Amino acid sequence: MRIDIITVLPALLDGPLKHSIVKRASKKGLVDIQIHDLRNFAKGKHRSVDDYAFGGDAGMVMSIGPIHRAITHLSSLREYDEIIYTSPDGHRFDQREANRLATLENVIILCGHYKGVDQRIRDHLVTREISIGDYVLTGGELAAAIITDSVVRLLPGAISDETSALSDSFQDGLLAPPVYTRPAEYQGWKVPDILLSGHAAKIDQWKHEQSLDRTRKLRPDLLEGFED
Ligand code: ADE
Repeated sequence: MRIDIITVLPALLDGPLKHSIVKRASKKGLVDIQIHDLRNFAKGKHRSVDDYAFGGDAGMVMSIGPIHRAITHLSSLREYDEIIYTSPDGHRFDQREANRLATLENVIILCGHYKGVDQRIRDHLVTREISIGDYVLTGGELAAAIITDSVVRLLPGAISDETSALSDSFQDGLLAPPVYTRPAEYQGWKVPDILLSGHAAKIDQWKHEQSLDRTRKLRPDLLEGFED
């Protein structure tokens, strides 16, 4: 999979995408993440990427030229399955969307900034708008990092224990069961006996019940439509 991220703040993406599982997946060749500085596609002495909004509104708008040139350049090199724009008014990102994106070959993520991008970019170039939640960030870089992280860990081979991505919270529509490690007892706080019993089938059943209980208590909205 290839992910091209277009941003005015490349430095913001360096940290999150150069560590841990994403770093390993890149090294293994499972994903190629390229970060593009939008200013490299700007023109003029000041290489400006934004301008005043028509209509007298306060705040700057990302200009159409540099973004159009960046997307046209990338699209001349390969075909993109999706050109994503990160914005608080996009589709709310969730595990289902992460799973879908993980099946794609080439994706561009355009990070929004200032008051957003010229609407014509959204109308004519962007194929999917994604929000990571109902709150406003200063820019789309952190959203792009979150989307990329959650997609890359789903790529086959990205996680050493291949089943572990499948048992994540949300992957089956439920929250994950609690997990424990040694010691079996710490200052009187005990690990549930069932986990030490060695009965694989009973343990699986217990985990499923725990998942259901947790979901009912913490995120009953996830069960809507599944329970009476
Ligand atoms: N840019 C600013 N806020 C955002 C959000 N909540 N999701 C995605 N991109 C954003």
